[in-house]
Amino acid sequence: MCGIVGYIGSQRAYDILIQGLKRLEYRGYDSAGVALVDDAGHLTVHKSMGKVANLEQVAAAGPLDGSLGIAHTRWATHGEPSDLNAHPHVSQSGMIALVHNGTIENYAVLKKVLIEHGYEFKSETDTEVLVQLIEYIKLTSSCSLLDAVREALLQVEGAYAIAVVEQNDPDNLIVARKSSPLVIGVGDGETFIASDATPIVGYTDKVIYLKDNEIALLRRNEPVQILSLTDNKPSTINIQKLRLSLAQLEKGGYDTFMLKEIFEQPSTLRDCLRGRIVDKANRVVLSGVELNKDKFLNAERITLVACGTSWHAALIGKRLIQDFCKMPVEVEYASEFRYGNPVLNEKDIVISISQSGETADTLAAIQLAREKGAFVYGICNVVGASIPRNTDSGTYIHVGPEIGVASTKAFTGQVTVLTLLALSVGHLRGAIDQKTLHEVASALEKMPATIEKALKVDAEVQKLSRIFTYAHNFLYLGRGYNYPTALEGALKLKEISYIHAEGYPAAEMKHGPIALIDHEMPSVIIAPSDSLYDKIISNVQQVKSRGGAVVAIISKGNKAMSEIADFCIEIPEVPECLTPLVASIPLQLLAYYIAVNKGKDVDQPRNLAKSVTVE
Ligand code: M6R
Repeated sequence: MCGIVGYIGSQRAYDILIQGLKRLEYRGYDSAGVALVDDAGHLTVHKSMGKVANLEQVAAAGPLDGSLGIAHTRWATHGEPSDLNAHPHVSQSGMIALVHNGTIENYAVLKKVLIEHGYEFKSETDTEVLVQLIEYIKLTSSCSLLDAVREALLQVEGAYAIAVVEQNDPDNLIVARKSSPLVIGVGDGETFIASDATPIVGYTDKVIYLKDNEIALLRRNEPVQILSLTDNKPSTINIQKLRLSLAQLEKGGYDTFMLKEIFEQPSTLRDCLRGRIVDKANRVVLSGVELNKDKFLNAERITLVACGTSWHAALIGKRLIQDFCKMPVEVEYASEFRYGNPVLNEKDIVISISQSGETADTLAAIQLAREKGAFVYGICNVVGASIPRNTDSGTYIHVGPEIGVASTKAFTGQVTVLTLLALSVGHLRGAIDQKTLHEVASALEKMPATIEKALKVDAEVQKLSRIFTYAHNFLYLGRGYNYPTALEGALKLKEISYIHAEGYPAAEMKHGPIALIDHEMPSVIIAPSDSLYDKIISNVQQVKSRGGAVVAIISKGNKAMSEIADFCIEIPEVPECLTPLVASIPLQLLAYYIAVNKGKDVDQPRNLAKSVTVE
């Protein structure tokens, strides 16, 4: 979703801003723009539809001077993608420029008032309303830009991260946030701002995560000042060390980030598991659980909230917690949970799962859960993101930055952490026997090597993908632990190849979707040798007898399915509860190669954003 970059210092701002925008491309966007203030106090704005490369072409005509600037990648919410709707937006007099991530809910009311005061609007965006409001306040109350921004934000309802510059003041950059992320990078005589830390890496490792309802004044050669938006009092400044390297943000020899991330899974799972399985796989340690033993011992119910792929991981988590902790578990889409009047109390644990830690619906869901007295636990990838900062405790999945929009290594990291959590809480509550704990923990410990074996199907899946590249519809079927795997496989295909795909519990197929099956509708069946294997065989027979082609994901050496299915992909044998981890590998590869065969941009699929920071 929208990305913000800003710079004030001694270098040419334009170069830093363009590089920063390129690092934010993965978030998803449809237009981009930059505003520069040169040392003489001239404001220049360049904007363009499409990629950052288009912006560079447009901006090449210059001017590009100035060591202060703000820039933006826009993901359209109010108004279609266009040059006019792209950010930065400039106030009527041309004095103030602003970039914004989020949505201003009361923009129509504010716009009406501004029109009555003679303001004219060039774009259809909510953002232009904010920049005009700031100018109106500044001119009518003759106050500083900081006061005008603060006053305007007090009138705004909605979510925002903003950066503002003024043409007559080349020494001043103002930023603020509410429910939308913003990171400040503190350099030596220079300051960077960005929606996430990726544009800052390589310049400084000192960062400040701006909190909700804070406004920061970044003056040239002066320390960062942060104030509370509500009472204007100085906030405590907490400078943290950024643990991200440039190498983690590069493709490392792969054609795409997605392929790199698929192949990275053995090492990301190694990082995810490090130090968490101990005593010869007889004990699992998650510090978030250890520090809150009472909460986990006394809990009467766990509710998992998440969106998208993270929600699929949550469905697997539900089975793991039911099996190993023997307690009631619910799974909710965060977007439904937040408006569903959930009945919660202090005996409830709400676990949020999010790769980015910035998903607006998930953030709102956990805020609601906390208000209702539940203990909120976060499973997140991005260190320091909003969700881990708004939970009572939690666990990072530690799989490194995920740049491809289609989630792969984060999914396997989430499932791994959910398995660890279920084992550790199950042990704490006396709900799991030592033999089962040891068996699952040992297999999990070996998972990096197992995934390495699973990845050996790469060439075979690539070949298979050519047969199905031009199918218009796909059905993904699974049962038990692998019903969510089927959902996830279908989502991967949809997201990057734009082929319609439905994930379904295999046995439910006969209650409706079976009507769709014909020789043009392939089905991908996730059928490892587990407790439901015999059942799924008959589901496959139902597909076959209606002329549908079947690709089956089976455990190594399983003969029965290979006699029925048209194509079989073998995965290493693991305990049933861990089959989603290995089965998801060929599904990721299948989606990837079909999309590549179709010439799609797998890392930045159309209309999608990596962090969905608006409702
Ligand atoms: O960052 P989150 O895990 O909260 O994101 C949730 C979804 O937006 C995300 O999983 C989305 O569905 C991915 N594009 C899936 O590949």
